[in-house]
Amino acid sequence: MQGTIDGVTYEIPRHIAVIMDGNGRWAKKRLMPRGFGHRQGGKTLEQACEDVWHLGVQYFTVYAFSTENWKRSVEEVTGIMNILRNYLKTAAERCNRENMRMRVIGDRTILDADIQSEIHRVEEATKQNTGLQFTVAINYGGRDEIRRAMVKIAKEVEEGKLSADAVTDEVIKNHLDTWELPDPDLLIRTSGEERISNFLLWQLAYAEFYFTDVLWPDFDRKCFIDAIKYYNSRDRRYGGVKDDKKIRK
Ligand code: FPP
Repeated sequence: MQGTIDGVTYEIPRHIAVIMDGNGRWAKKRLMPRGFGHRQGGKTLEQACEDVWHLGVQYFTVYAFSTENWKRSVEEVTGIMNILRNYLKTAAERCNRENMRMRVIGDRTILDADIQSEIHRVEEATKQNTGLQFTVAINYGGRDEIRRAMVKIAKEVEEGKLSADAVTDEVIKNHLDTWELPDPDLLIRTSGEERISNFLLWQLAYAEFYFTDVLWPDFDRKCFIDAIKYYNSRDRRYGGVKDDKKIRK
């Protein structure tokens, strides 16, 4: 879909995914503990939801906590979980005010029981909302998501509900945590790292990647506009050729 930013028309990515990296370095630069960076990262995220929606983005998915992040110190993990806890407490009210729907992807079954029930409450309370479709990845890993989808499919095959030959790309997509979402058009990773770190491995197949040195807590509306401009400079072909002209041999 097209949108106008500062008087110029751009193709706006329908779905933007973000690896919010650099919170720790942002805090270190200020001689502050890492948790300070995560707290600021949380504030940046709240503003980001407003910014992307006003820029015309419909789906926004962020990586808040990976299946690998448990390797961090107990203090840091507890700090991130507490930021999530606090965020979730007011999320339903905030989302409803903005007509925003919130979903969580990842394996939530090992999260603390109170976080699991808050997630359920927010998802239920916002499921009618038609504005920004906001998704937070918590205890998420792309390989783990694919593995869990494979287990579900294998069980359906075992129970005779599905034949093995009927397992198409579409069937796999429909068993992923993101089954209701279109694939991201644009992936942004902040802080200079250029990896996807197990994020949305299936879904990013045709996404454009935008890497920037900006640390996540500093990522503002102008940074999103720069990313959208970069996206507009790309020529998306999905494995075909430009202008859909077929090459005939
Ligand atoms: C990566 O930076 C960031 C994280 C692992 C945590 C992201 C979490 C938040 C922004 C908290 C808010 C979430 C919600 C849903 C409210 P890093 O710690 O790896 O930074 P570094 O590479 O500079 O050390």
